[in-house]
Amino acid sequence: IADAYEAAFDAAVSADERIEPRDWMPEAYRASLVRQMAQHAHSEIIGMQPEANWITRAPSLRRKAILMAKVQDEAGHGLYLYSAAETLGTSRDELLDKLHTGRQKYSSIFNYPTLTWADVGAIGWLVDGAAITNQVPLCRCSYGPYARAMVRICKEESFHQRQGYELLLTLSQGTPEQHAMAQDAVDRWWWPSLMMFGPPDDASAHSAQSMAWKIKRHSNDELRQRFVDICVPQAQSLGLTLPDPDLRWNEERGHHDFGAIDWAEFQDVLKGNGPCNEQRISQRRQAHEEGAWVREAAAAYADKHQTAQHT
Ligand code: 3HC
Repeated sequence: IADAYEAAFDAAVSADERIEPRDWMPEAYRASLVRQMAQHAHSEIIGMQPEANWITRAPSLRRKAILMAKVQDEAGHGLYLYSAAETLGTSRDELLDKLHTGRQKYSSIFNYPTLTWADVGAIGWLVDGAAITNQVPLCRCSYGPYARAMVRICKEESFHQRQGYELLLTLSQGTPEQHAMAQDAVDRWWWPSLMMFGPPDDASAHSAQSMAWKIKRHSNDELRQRFVDICVPQAQSLGLTLPDPDLRWNEERGHHDFGAIDWAEFQDVLKGNGPCNEQRISQRRQAHEEGAWVREAAAAYADKHQTAQHT
């Protein structure tokens, strides 16, 4: 019988059909989706911290309103993704506990500090830009709830990317000091943004299996290359340079060649030694503890409400 289920699963995946929560699936498929979706959700909620730092310091009411909307969106993305992960038989509490105890990861990119207002622009343009390049293919992921969550998230990410681009353009075309601030932010966020796509393909533990299951539709290096090719002309129209002397168009490949990424830095950040790892996790744990009363009140209300319905 199990073979018949496995055969049906394989046939559905190869026919580009969606696997839904009640369908039979290999336990390894379930576990890999929980791993990726949970870490994606963790990235969204930790990702609120770097920019929240600038909400009270935004240079205008318009910028403040935009930034508040963006940070709220990231919280919403986290909730969609935790809900989608729960369809696989796990719980938000369990996933958050794994985050708080270092048993699950969040994206390396959020362990870097936001030193000036221009960082908000660089994050929107580069970090949310990289997220879009990585997440659009995920709209075609074989697991239904994840693919559907991505459709709405990608729409909101394009607003994030555009507001960041526009912020940088304003600074770049501003005073020499503003231009220098925008350039400094791009210099600091460029390489860590390339690391968001994951290790090189030949060092990627999950890619082969993830692509066989049509969770990952393109390899890490393929999407990283796509992102570089998108950013080069955008940097030109921003009037900013990218901090890579080896960056050049390669007519033969039809892509831009670019310099070596510092994978030692990447591994170091993953080990918890990035500039802000400790701060991000302790702030997350504190927010969780301080939010306990809200969770308890909501649960008590739900219980009372349910018993009222059944009496
Ligand atoms: N930061 C932290 N960990 C990373 C990483 C990164 N940038 N890139 C890879 N890793 C981890 C992987 O999770 C895996 O560790 P694990 O086994 O403990 O999970 C290990 O490094 C090996 O990497 P693989 O390439 O084998 O892993 P994947 O096949 O999972 O590929 C990925 C990594 C491309 C990030 C993939 O997981 C993915 O596409 N995830 C969904 C997208 C996502 O998580 N994006 C986070 C960006 S932030 C964001 O979207 C918020 C937005 O608002 C900006």
